[in-house]
Amino acid sequence: MSKPALSSTSIPISRVCAQVQTNGHSVPTHVAIIMDGNGRWARRRGLPRIEGHREGTRNVSRILDALGKHGIPYATFFAFSTENWNRPRVEVQAIMTILEETIDKETPTLVEKNVCFRYLGRTDRLTPQLRNAITRVLELTKNNTGLTLSVALDYGGRDEILQAVRQIASDGVPPEQIDGELLQRYLYTHDVPDPDLIVRTAGEHRLSNFLVWQSVYSEYYSSQVCWPDFDEAELAKALRAFSQRKRRFGALPPEE
Ligand code: FPP
Repeated sequence: MSKPALSSTSIPISRVCAQVQTNGHSVPTHVAIIMDGNGRWARRRGLPRIEGHREGTRNVSRILDALGKHGIPYATFFAFSTENWNRPRVEVQAIMTILEETIDKETPTLVEKNVCFRYLGRTDRLTPQLRNAITRVLELTKNNTGLTLSVALDYGGRDEILQAVRQIASDGVPPEQIDGELLQRYLYTHDVPDPDLIVRTAGEHRLSNFLVWQSVYSEYYSSQVCWPDFDEAELAKALRAFSQRKRRFGALPPEE
């Protein structure tokens, strides 16, 4: 029996596109990471929470290099959620300062390494300094053709869908023209494939409003290790687990 055609309102699942290597192992095209456990990492060492955020930030470039070595072309890091504003003001301010300093400091390296920087999230609640740092890195890396690094900052999956719906309405799109593909074009991730693999550190098993639309067929991996300690070896474990998953996207496996 032939497969039924997808209706025009279906979500285009083809946006999920892991690569199959010559050894038969499949490698994710897009790895998205929920970096959790900075605070616990610091507390266990008797340090202030902010030191955990500093070490966690340093770890981003280590893991980015490791993802590059594995030939993974898209990486997304969840740096700050729309709900993280509910943390104490000093912690929020410290995180914002770290992010601004890091983006400024790392911009030349991203340019040199041919990384294309992408921003996912709202920008209206950021400090002007952080907004400027983001505008600068986006501009300086926009033509880079290497790894695409997306940073989700003041990002919430529900918020992203809401802003897309509002924009569709304000563009006057007739309801019958609204389908999955059109909605995706209004998301922050419009030119990034859906994540094949979502990794969360520090033992939690929650999506926490991350890539809500995009994650419908992502494989999920939870590591016990706090983010600052999540190193190349831990990443390799996650990639190994991914290569052993059987992905069916709601269909049946091909007959043997
Ligand atoms: C998670 O640990 C960390 C955060 C919510 C935000 C801070 C993230 C960074 C500073 C990484 C920077 C990222 C980039 C891309 C430069 P937590 O505070 O929730 O830890 P806990 O659950 O142990 O308290």
